[in-house]
Amino acid sequence: MDLQLTEARPTDEERAAVDDLLGPPRGRWDGGERGTEDSRISRAGHEVREQRHLLLPALHAVQDRIGWISEGALNYVSMRLTVPPAEAYGVASFYALFATEERPPTVVHVCDDIACLPAGAERLCAEMERVIGPAGTPTSDGSTTWQRSPCLGMCEQAPAVLLQRAGHGARDRSIGGARAEGVLSELAGGGGSEAPGADAGTVAPQTASAEGRAELRLLRRVGVVDPESLDSYRAEGGYEALRLAVQMGPAGVIRELKDAKLMGRGGAAFPTGVKWEAVASQGTRPHYFICNADESEPGTFKDRVVMEHDPFALIEAMTIAGYTTASERGFIYIRGEYPLAEARLRHAIDEARDRGFLGEDVMGEGFSFDMEVRRGAGAYICGEETALLNSLEGQRGEPRSKPPFPVAIGLHGKPTGINNVETLINVLEILAIGGPSYAAIGTEGSTGPRLFCLSGAVERPGLYEAPFGLTLRELLASAGGVRGGGPPKAVLLGGAAGAFVGPGDLDLRLTFEDTREAGVTLGSGVVLVFDDETSLPEVLVRIAAFFRDESCGQCVPCRIGTVRQEEALQRLVRERPIGSREQELALLDEIATVMRDASICGLGQTAADAIASAISRLEVFAPQGAAQTEVLPTRTEEQES
Ligand SMILES: Cc1cc2nc3c(=O)[nH]c(=O)nc-3n(C[C@H](O)[C@H](O)[C@H](O)COP(=O)(O)O)c2cc1C
Ligand code: SF4
Ligand code: FES
Repeated sequence: MDLQLTEARPTDEERAAVDDLLGPPRGRWDGGERGTEDSRISRAGHEVREQRHLLLPALHAVQDRIGWISEGALNYVSMRLTVPPAEAYGVASFYALFATEERPPTVVHVCDDIACLPAGAERLCAEMERVIGPAGTPTSDGSTTWQRSPCLGMCEQAPAVLLQRAGHGARDRSIGGARAEGVLSELAGGGGSEAPGADAGTVAPQTASAEGRAELRLLRRVGVVDPESLDSYRAEGGYEALRLAVQMGPAGVIRELKDAKLMGRGGAAFPTGVKWEAVASQGTRPHYFICNADESEPGTFKDRVVMEHDPFALIEAMTIAGYTTASERGFIYIRGEYPLAEARLRHAIDEARDRGFLGEDVMGEGFSFDMEVRRGAGAYICGEETALLNSLEGQRGEPRSKPPFPVAIGLHGKPTGINNVETLINVLEILAIGGPSYAAIGTEGSTGPRLFCLSGAVERPGLYEAPFGLTLRELLASAGGVRGGGPPKAVLLGGAAGAFVGPGDLDLRLTFEDTREAGVTLGSGVVLVFDDETSLPEVLVRIAAFFRDESCGQCVPCRIGTVRQEEALQRLVRERPIGSREQELALLDEIATVMRDASICGLGQTAADAIASAISRLEVFAPQGAAQTEVLPTRTEEQES
C-alpha cells in the first residue's frame, strides 16, 4: 500500500503517546528505521495492517496527551497502522472529541441539550463567555477553551459539564449540577489526578414500587457494593449467575432467555434469546460479543449509573453472553464522555482477569472469554450497531446497510452479538429467578423490570426501576410529581428520537405494546418532563440542531432533511415563515415523510418524530404558541455569524 504522507513529522511527545499504546515500531513497515532484513522483503506488513482496529485508540492516545491531533501525529499513526492518511484524517475529523486544529489542553464542554437547557445551561454558557471568552477561543494563557455540547448523559444532574483534559496523567471529569464557580474552581485546581474512586455525583437508585428498595432487581447493588471490589460484588451474589449458566449450558441459557421473553432495551426491542441463538448457531469462527454502552440519546443516563456503580455485573453478564454464544472475545464500546464509568470498568476487568473470572479458563470451567473497553469519541451515530462496528474496526462511524445483520456478518465480517447494558444486566436476574418467573413480572407483551431516566421538571430526578406496566402518572408520582405541583406541560418519552405526550396522556401504561398503540415509544427509557417555564419551540429547535449535527451525512434524505427541518423550525419560531405558517408546517411534514421512508438508518428515520409529535399532539405551533416564543441562537447561527 502506498502511503502518501506529507512532510509533517510527529513531535517526540506525539510519537511517545502512540508508542506507549502500540509499543515501539518493529521495522520500516510501521514507522521504524529500515533494517538490513527489510531491504528486499516486507516483514510484518500483514500483521501491521491487521492493527487498523487500533486507529481510534491511537487517536485517543494523541488527543489525550497533546490536546489535539496534528498533521505530523496523524502521519505517524498512519505509518504505524498502515492506514492511508486521508482515511485516518476522515476518521479523526468524524468525532467531536478529537481536534485536528490546535486548541488548548483543557476544553470545557457545556451541555446545552434538552434537559440542561431548562436547567440554566444558557446562564452557564453566558458565564463561560464572560470568564473564558467566546466559545472556541482560548484563554489569554492558552490553557483553556469552552464549547457547547450535546447531551452528556448526566441529565438527572442538569446542567452538566465535561472537562476534557490533555497531558501526562490528566483525566477528564464530569460535573453535575454545574455552576460557573464550581467549574472555575475545578479549572483552577487543574491537573485532575483523582483516582477512579472520585465520584462524579452519586445517584441514588429510585424505585417506583411501593415496597421501595427491596423491590429493586436491576439496581439493587447500586449504592450497596463497592464498585472497585470484586469481593464486595461476590458478597452480594456476584458470579452466581455465571455458575448457573455453566450448569445449564448454552442451550439452557437461551431457553431461559426465550422463556423470559427478554426484549432489548437499547431501543429496537429485539428478542435477546433469538439474537443469542442466531450468533451461537453460526458455523463461522470466531464469534464476537459487544456491549453497546454508547448511550448518547439525549435524556438517557441509565447505562452510566449501572457502569459507574455496578461494573462487575456488566462484566459477569458479558461473560455469560460470551459463553452462550461461543464468543471468546468481547468489547464494551463506551461513549467518550463517561470518564468515571470507563475507569471503573477498566479496573473491574483487570480485577476479574487477575482472579480468573476472565481469560483462558474462566472460573476453571474450561471456556475462554476475555474483553476490553473501547472508548467512543463523541458521535451519537456510533450507538447504531453497524456504525459501532465500523468505529471499532477503525473506520468512520457510518452505518452499514442491513441485511446482512451483525449476527451473521458483524465485527471483522464475523458473527457478532450486540446488546445494550440494561439488556445484559437483565440476564443475571433471569438466571437467578428463572425465565418463567421473570416473564411473570410486567405485562404479557413487556416482561421484566425497566429502567426509566427521569429528568427535567420533577421533584426527584434520577434513575427509576419499575416493572413494565405502571402508568406515566404513577411513575411521575414516585418521583415526587412535577415541580411546583401542577400537571406537566409535556413529557418527552424515549429521547430525542422519541415522542412528546401531553397532560392528557398521563394514564398511558409504560409498556412496549401500549406506547406502540399510542404512536409513541419507550426508546431508551427517557422520561423528560417540561413545565410551563419551558419554551417547547425552543426545545424543538434544539432537537433539530442535534440531529443536524449528528447525521453522519452518508445518505441524502437525512443529510439534507435534518438541515431543512431545523431551518423551517427556526423560521416558524421567529415568525418569519416563507409563505404562511401552514406552508412551513406542511414542509416539515413532507421532510419528515422523506426522512422516515428513505433514510438508511434509524437516525434519519426518527429525526422528525419528536418534532412531529409536538406539532400534532401538543399543537406547539398553534398561533398563540408561536407568538409567546423567544428563541436563543443555535450553534449553526453562532458559527455562521
Ligand atoms: C441512531 C441510533 C443510535 C443508537 N444508540 C444506541 C445506544 O446508544 N445504545 C444502545 O444500546 N443502542 C443504541 N441503538 C440501538 C442499536 O442499534 C441496537 O439496536 C442495540 O444496541 C441492540 O441492543 P439491544 O437488543 O440490547 O437493545 C441506536 C440506534 C440508532 C439508530
Ligand atoms: S440516516 Fe443519517 S445517520 Fe443514518 S446513514 Fe443516513 S445520513 Fe447517516
Ligand atoms: S446532560 Fe444535558 S441534556 Fe443530558
